[in-house]
Amino acid sequence: MNSKYIDNDNSRGLFERASRSMIKGVNSPIRYFEPYPFFVKRARGCKVHDVDNNQYIDYCMGYGALLLGHAFKAVIDAVREQLARGSLYCMPTEQEVELAELLQRCIPCAEAVRLVNTGMEATYHAIRIARAYTRRRKIVRFDGCYHGSHDYTLARRDMSREERMDKAILDGVADNTLVLPYNDPDALMDAMRREGDDVAAVIVEPVMANAGLIPPEDGYLGRLSSICREYGSLLIFDEVVTGFRLALGGAEEYYNIKPDIATFAKAMANGFAIACIAGRRDVMSVLAPEGRLYQGSTFAGNPISVTASLATIRYLTRHRSLYSRIARRCGELVSMIDDAIEDNGLTARVNSIASMLQVFFTSREVRDHATARSSNTELFKAYFRALLKQGIFIPPSQFEVCFLSLAHDDTIIRSTGESIDRAFRELREQVEVAGRQ
Ligand SMILES: Cc1ncc(COP(=O)(O)O)c(C=O)c1O
Repeated sequence: MNSKYIDNDNSRGLFERASRSMIKGVNSPIRYFEPYPFFVKRARGCKVHDVDNNQYIDYCMGYGALLLGHAFKAVIDAVREQLARGSLYCMPTEQEVELAELLQRCIPCAEAVRLVNTGMEATYHAIRIARAYTRRRKIVRFDGCYHGSHDYTLARRDMSREERMDKAILDGVADNTLVLPYNDPDALMDAMRREGDDVAAVIVEPVMANAGLIPPEDGYLGRLSSICREYGSLLIFDEVVTGFRLALGGAEEYYNIKPDIATFAKAMANGFAIACIAGRRDVMSVLAPEGRLYQGSTFAGNPISVTASLATIRYLTRHRSLYSRIARRCGELVSMIDDAIEDNGLTARVNSIASMLQVFFTSREVRDHATARSSNTELFKAYFRALLKQGIFIPPSQFEVCFLSLAHDDTIIRSTGESIDRAFRELREQVEVAGRQ
C-alpha cells in the first residue's frame, strides 16, 4: 500500500493556499487536524486518494453517508442520466412522489414527509414543527448528542452569560433548552415532573454517534417514548446517522420504537445532499401550505438529490442482506481490535453496533458523554496518526465514529485489524516510555 502521509507536499501547499481564503483552510471544523489535513483527489469503494497520490482505506465514509461506498455505480449512473434532464425545476416531479412513497414504506413513523437538504435543516424544522404543534416552548436534548450547527440544539440552559455571547445564543433559546444525561431515563422523568407541561419535544440520537459511539441501554428508548406520551411531548428521533444505516427503517425498525417525528440525511442518498423530516400526519400538517408554519427551500426535492436517494434506497430495499453482511464484518473487526487491546496491554475498549464502531482509551464503560470524556484523547490522537501513516483514515476526533461500508470486504477488514494491532504496539511503546520518565 502506498502511504507516505509524512511527506505530502501537495496537501501542505493546498492547505497554505486554502488558509488564505477559508478559515483554517476548511469548510467544516472537523475536517481540520494538526498540522493540516490531506486534500482529496478522488475516491471509489472504500478507498480515498489524495493529491500526493497516497491511498487510504476510509473509515470516515462521509461521516456515515456512504453505506454503499464511494462512487457507487447504481447511484452515479442514475444521477448522470438525470443531469442531462436538468438539475433544478422548483416544481414537483414524479420522482419526488416515488421517493416520498418509498420513505413511507421504509420508515415506520412516516405518515407524511418533507424533504430538505441537510441534517441540520431537518432537526431545526423538526423542533419548529413540535413547538407549533404542541404550542409549547421548551425542548429536551441529551448531553453529547449533536443535531447540527443551529441554536436550538447547540444551546443549553446552564450556559454562562459569557458562553451565550461567545456562541451567539439568545437567552430565550438557552433558557428553553434543557440538557440531560443520555441513557438516564430517571433524569428525564425528574425534569418532566418539574416542567413537562411546557416541553414541546424530546430530541435524541437513538444511537449516540457524536460522543464516540454510545448505543442505548436496554429499554432506554422505550422509557423515553412512554415518558413523552405521559406528558404530551413529542419524541423526535434524530436518525441523521442511524437512518438507512442501522437498518432500512433506521433505529425505529432496529429497536421497534415509533417516534412522533424523525429526521434523516446522510445514508439516505449515499453521498448526495438531501434530508427528510418524517412523522405523524397530524403533526406534520402544521407545515405550510396546509398549516401556518412556514418552511421552504429552493433546493428541497431537487431532481439530482432525489434521483440519488431513490437509487440508494431502491438498492438497499432489494439487497437487505447487506445489513447483516456489513454487521458481521464490523463484528470481526471489533474482535480483532479487542484481541489487539489485550495483546498490547492497553487500557481501552470498543463500542460497536451494526456498521459502526469506536475505540475509547479508558477503563470505564462508555455509556454517556461523561464516561466518553474519561477517554485519553492524546492517546486517541496518537492512534489516529499511527493509522494514517499506514494508510488507514479514521475520523480524527475521539468523539466521532468509524463507519464501514459495503465496500469494506473481508480482506480489507483483516488488513485493517493488522494495522490497528501495529498502531497499538506503537502506542504501548509510547505509554511505556512515558511511564519511565
Ligand atoms: C445525528 C446528527 N444530526 C444532525 C447532523 C447535522 O447534519 P448535517 O451535517 O447534514 O447538517 C449530524 C451531522 O453530523 C448528525 O450526526
